Amino acid sequence: MTISIHPIHPVFVGEVGGVDLRRPLSKAEVAAIEAGMDRYAVLVFHDQNITDEQQIAFTRNFGEIENSAGGTVTKDHEKRLSPLMNDVSNLGQDHRPMARDDRRRLFNLGNQLWHSDSSFRAIPAKYSILSARTIVDKGGNTEFADMRAAYDALDDATKKIVEPLICEHSLMYSRGLLGFTELSDEERRMFRPVRQALVRTHPNNRRKSLYLASHAGAIVGWPVPEARAFLRDLNEAATRPENVYVHKWRRYDLVMWDNRQTMHRVRRFDETKVRDMRRTTVAGDRPTAEQVAA
Ligand SMILES: [Fe+2]
Repeated sequence: MTISIHPIHPVFVGEVGGVDLRRPLSKAEVAAIEAGMDRYAVLVFHDQNITDEQQIAFTRNFGEIENSAGGTVTKDHEKRLSPLMNDVSNLGQDHRPMARDDRRRLFNLGNQLWHSDSSFRAIPAKYSILSARTIVDKGGNTEFADMRAAYDALDDATKKIVEPLICEHSLMYSRGLLGFTELSDEERRMFRPVRQALVRTHPNNRRKSLYLASHAGAIVGWPVPEARAFLRDLNEAATRPENVYVHKWRRYDLVMWDNRQTMHRVRRFDETKVRDMRRTTVAGDRPTAEQVAA
């Protein structure tokens, strides 16, 4: 089998054929997928009925797996999956949908806001790899926005403004937008803001992208209301329909995206139904900005 990748959206996103992710990949296959990621930023693989172990092995082709600690209010002893996996389902440890008022579910609703995974970490994520094990028949689409196209579409004056800016990202900002503000002291410490450059240059294709997320709640040196109004404008422009790909899940789809070049969000669905989605995350290799001592 030879890997094929063809575009399924005018701006980004490729669909991959000719690969079975249950088996180890050759160096050439890994290189073809990396090249596809550089070009398309989001890759869709259909009909990949894989186990967690196979997903972890596939993920390790692209770098180290990110430590999932610190990105959630779910305690270690409440976790359903291995610490190498991020549980993006709506399920508790009993594999049943969480109650409507479950604090963990309410926290996870933040995934319905546009974001880039782990932008709240000092070294943010490279790739995310999401496997659809059980899907719902209505809703629950995942939408992606191409942040390279978002940068390219800015006028020159705005490009000059954004170029040197550093934002502060925190889960407290994104959850605060939804009114989720009751946090323990330990959670506040865990979620303390980190700094991220607003403009990133991709290490391979050298394209610039806007590094935005609902986790971004401040711009260093700017008054907060002005920063939030400006970030809101940038987000609105970045997520115009022509820059957005809507993924309608099929069971056993695996979708892989580059967090350095895209944002995404999940759409609302009936959370009394089981939606079992499992993510692995490839760690990034460097911070995007200098951090200040805590
Ligand atoms: Fe996400």
